[in-house]
Amino acid sequence: MRRYSRITGTGSYLPPRRLTNADLAEELAASGVETSDDWIVERTGIRARHFAAADVCSSDLGVEAARRALDAAGVLAQDIDLIIVATSTPDMVFPSTACILQNKLGANGCPAFDVQAVCSGFIYALTVADAMIQTGSASKALVIGAEVFSRILDFKDRTTCVLFGDGAGAVVLEASDTPGILASDLHADGKHVGILCVPGHVSGGSVLGDPLLKMDGQAVFKLAVGVLDEAARATLAKAGKTAADIDWLIPHQANIRIMQSTARKLKLPMDKVIVTVDQHGNTSAASIPLALDTAVRSGRVVPGQLLLLEGVGGGFTWGAVLLNM
Ligand code: UT7
Repeated sequence: MRRYSRITGTGSYLPPRRLTNADLAEELAASGVETSDDWIVERTGIRARHFAAADVCSSDLGVEAARRALDAAGVLAQDIDLIIVATSTPDMVFPSTACILQNKLGANGCPAFDVQAVCSGFIYALTVADAMIQTGSASKALVIGAEVFSRILDFKDRTTCVLFGDGAGAVVLEASDTPGILASDLHADGKHVGILCVPGHVSGGSVLGDPLLKMDGQAVFKLAVGVLDEAARATLAKAGKTAADIDWLIPHQANIRIMQSTARKLKLPMDKVIVTVDQHGNTSAASIPLALDTAVRSGRVVPGQLLLLEGVGGGFTWGAVLLNM
């Protein structure tokens, strides 16, 4: 009998400090940076974001989301046999955030590693976990997206610092004899490294180069709307489905206008799109599992529904996963 993987529990966590656009605009104004709630809402759909306290790392946010996903799945931490953390804001250069999180969770012993695909990280991590479950290398996996993007924001650059926030989302993915994950489609094109990057690196005890986020927003926007449409169609085609079969589209939560454009191209009404970007901004690898968990807990996403998850981000990376809940 063929072996599949299936999501059996979801969880998410946002750090308590919440800044509305007005709060952030006020803080930025104190250092001479001008922005407004109107601009941010109109151009992005973002209304608020959460920032972690200075001593809180991605693993701290991730472990809270993981505990909630384990509770929802009715799975004990010690029964987890694979941990994958998608993050671009790791706790340390090494070891991986997954190893640090594993120890906090008390799931010691199982393989644990990070995936670095920026805002597509959760889609990459879910696809890797699915493949490992299908081949029998794992049976109960935790797949987590966790970020503290506030650490890498340039608060003098209004074109980027208003966009991002901190948070984490997680799923428990278990082996199943019914699908689960039906298809996925991953891509990267390294010629676009420069349009979205944090170019600094550690060398000889110092950070060389700029350790803050740089983005050519318009270039990212244009690429994103094209590749998200291609990834959606390719993933649906692999599973013999069409956009009309989808119950929910759960895209990376970066900008409402990108989500609207994706939905329009797929001829999906916006009431089939899960939108949480207004509440937490762009949380990079955390945004898709955060949106998924929000939709599950609000009763919109229910077992048996067909979901298309889609991510796009630095690298340039992009991809999609089609699954039955
Ligand atoms: O997670 C990875 C994926 N990342 C993304 O999806 C981001 C993709 N890009 C975007 O979402 C959009 O390009 C942005 C939201 C970043 C920018 O929106 P835009 O509609 O492309 O604005 P723009 O860059 O063309 O800027 C328009 C104006 C400029 O002023 P001028 O030159 O027209 O006078 C900017 O200086 O808006 C100005 N502006 C701001 N004004 C107030 C830029 N940032 C701000 C700001 N507040 N925070």
